[in-house]
Amino acid sequence: MIPTWSNHPDLVAFYTQNRNQPDDLYESEKRFLPALAIRSASVLDVGCAAGGFAAIWRHYNPVIEYTGVDVSQVLIEHARQRYPHGFRFLQGDMSQGLLLSARYAHTVQALGCLHWDTEYAASLRELWRLTDRFLFFDIRLVSGLAEEIRGQQKMELSNAWDGRTTTPYLVVDWARFVDLILSLNPRLILGYGYMGQPAKSVIHVDRSVCFAAFVLEKRPAGAAGGHPTVCLDMPYTWPSEAQEPVSVLPPSCLDGLLRGSVELVEPAYETQSGLMENAC
Ligand SMILES: C[S@@+](CC[C@H](N)C(=O)[O-])C[C@H]1O[C@@H](n2cnc3c(N)ncnc32)[C@H](O)[C@@H]1O
Repeated sequence: MIPTWSNHPDLVAFYTQNRNQPDDLYESEKRFLPALAIRSASVLDVGCAAGGFAAIWRHYNPVIEYTGVDVSQVLIEHARQRYPHGFRFLQGDMSQGLLLSARYAHTVQALGCLHWDTEYAASLRELWRLTDRFLFFDIRLVSGLAEEIRGQQKMELSNAWDGRTTTPYLVVDWARFVDLILSLNPRLILGYGYMGQPAKSVIHVDRSVCFAAFVLEKRPAGAAGGHPTVCLDMPYTWPSEAQEPVSVLPPSCLDGLLRGSVELVEPAYETQSGLMENAC
């Protein structure tokens, strides 16, 4: 079902005016997007709003193939008008599955939308199906939650709130989220994040959260599995009780792994916590 907020005039007003140039990127996005753009022949931008990231990806890679998907039909129509040539825009709901083939794009991006999606686990699995190499997304996390926090965000992006329209605002437990991404069986997990207060428009989330962005690298089709390699530059460490062993690299390896200039090697030793640690 199409959410009631998805064609709201305030959402349209904000995304037709903002988030369409490199200066608009948040810190976590700047850390990953430019390097991914150089390494990607195609990008699928899910939750593309009015398509502003088409210009951002092309800024970093002028020949990248760009497809945008959004649940909002009105935003997709704006995107088509703003970027009429050489781009593809489709309406669709990632949690229900998109009419696109498996491994559709080299890189799949989903920024600012998983925390608006109560079906985020199904959505993440669908994004992974569509990923050929890299999945790049952000999410709000807290460590030690008994269950996820289901808050709400008032629709007041450019204009005053109308007193009724809200979107979901989900905060997910770090350890459960780790088990979810491990279930995808990625080759590499890169994470970057920082603690902060949710926007003033957020209700029922009365604590600081970790704003975290991740890049997951998929194994080539038919490749044998192995322990994933993890590199995190964020307030939370990899949980020792995670369902599967991983090889952990220090934060200093993050940029090299992202650029592909650091090769993944076999785990060097097992720590007391059971995590494999290594150096790059
Ligand atoms: C907060 S906006 C972020 C827009 C843009 N990605 C950015 O980072 O500036 C979230 C966007 O995701 C879209 N969205 C939310 N849930 C979605 C879903 N299940 N499937 C597709 N799009 C969705 C919304 O319509 C909205 O345009």
